[in-house]
Amino acid sequence: MDSFLIRGGNSLRGKVEISGSKNSALPILAACLMAEEKTTLRGVPRLSDINSMIGLIKELGCDVYRHEPSGDSGMTGGPPLNGPLDITVKSEKNCEARYDIVKTMRASICVLGPLLAKRGRAIVSIPGGCAIGDRPVDLHVRGLEKLGAMFRNENGNIVGEVRGRLKGCRMYLGGAQGPTVLGTINVMCAAALAEGDTVLVGAACEPEVVDCADMLNKMGAKIRGQGTPEIRIEGVEKLRGVEHRIIPDRIECGTFIIASAITNSPLELKHCNLDHLIAVTDLLEEMGVRMTRENGTIFVNPTGRPRPIEMTTQPYPGFPTDLQAQLMALLCVADGISVITERIFPDRFLHVGELNRMGARVRKEGPTAIIQGTMELAGAPVMASDLRASAAMVLAGLIARGTTRIDRVYHIDRGYEKIEEKLRALGADITRIKESRAVA
Ligand code: EPZ
Repeated sequence: MDSFLIRGGNSLRGKVEISGSKNSALPILAACLMAEEKTTLRGVPRLSDINSMIGLIKELGCDVYRHEPSGDSGMTGGPPLNGPLDITVKSEKNCEARYDIVKTMRASICVLGPLLAKRGRAIVSIPGGCAIGDRPVDLHVRGLEKLGAMFRNENGNIVGEVRGRLKGCRMYLGGAQGPTVLGTINVMCAAALAEGDTVLVGAACEPEVVDCADMLNKMGAKIRGQGTPEIRIEGVEKLRGVEHRIIPDRIECGTFIIASAITNSPLELKHCNLDHLIAVTDLLEEMGVRMTRENGTIFVNPTGRPRPIEMTTQPYPGFPTDLQAQLMALLCVADGISVITERIFPDRFLHVGELNRMGARVRKEGPTAIIQGTMELAGAPVMASDLRASAAMVLAGLIARGTTRIDRVYHIDRGYEKIEEKLRALGADITRIKESRAVA
């Protein structure tokens, strides 16, 4: 378990290349199980969650080959661009996603829909809860049942079977907390190969759903309405192999915008899609951060200490839960009292205690956190508790007086590609301490 050591106080300057989206690439890799020929994916980030998904689809019979990096990113000191990934299904015999893989990565559930639609059978270990909440998968199962799959629970696994072909229907896919992102993608993938028409009402509108639908359409699927709460799918018999580029990671992009704001440093972010971040950029502009865009580049210009705000996380296009922790780090040094309410994962607040160890003043009341801005934070040993909470610790460490040591950074390696290299290239004083030295 590596750690990060950050000496706070450096200004940042320069350009950073935003990677391809982890949360788009994961279900898209699973969707490749449905292709008849080779699929080539560009912009797949090198992350431990991506490695887990590649490991899983290999176990499920895919050949996966990553090409060499295709040149450097043009960013001084930044990591090189990733080479494309080729995925070819070689065998359809194994239909099981084992607990050993699922427990390290909940997104393994994304293979359920593709396996049932293409192979008529799936055994997927039931993902347990995680640091951000219980995270049930009942909506995935309910949606696939409506398409005709039959399920039973066996030894902690969901065992699903289909007699003949799945059958399209009209269904409502929302739950108590609103739409489900991976649930929508799972059912949409399955419906793409079902017999007849499917209408998903209450579908998630996230850009990752749209990216997957766009790739499926290139493969020959007939999907309309992606990006709206009603997705219409006309089932087809086969899906072909295609080339597809993964969309930029809106959460990584938002994290670097906040890095710019918290260090009061102008930054240039390359390979972004600001349209995917409208709620985030509007809010940060209210806080005093100026942003301009030019094609795929965002120029971020903070204007001093941020103003306090009130924010509630919501499904897309609202403010994403995946940026709540990072925004909280910024609000810890805002000029007044801010309020954050978490509507998607009401328990997603493990970072509160760690931020308070660094001198922040955050009080939690149910799904709400009240943040009294302070003039400065102080470096401390802290723990990375989940992916986005770890990013919040890094952001806080960048401005804290003295040294911040963040343990268990494997969480951050799940979702931020070479974050310490990218930050170092911008001028941050951040070092990774490898496990053996971290323990010593
Ligand atoms: C995706 O998870 C993302 N993961 C999460 O990002 C993200 O936080 C989340 O969407 C919300 O935007 C990936 O894309 C790999 P949901 P997902 O189903 O799809 C409830 C990160 O940090 N629900 O949209 O699993 C659920 O408990 C990760 O990168 C049910 O009740 O989330 C939550 O309250 C963390 N039953 C709400 O719906 C279900 O069957 C939304 O969850 C499914 C979900």
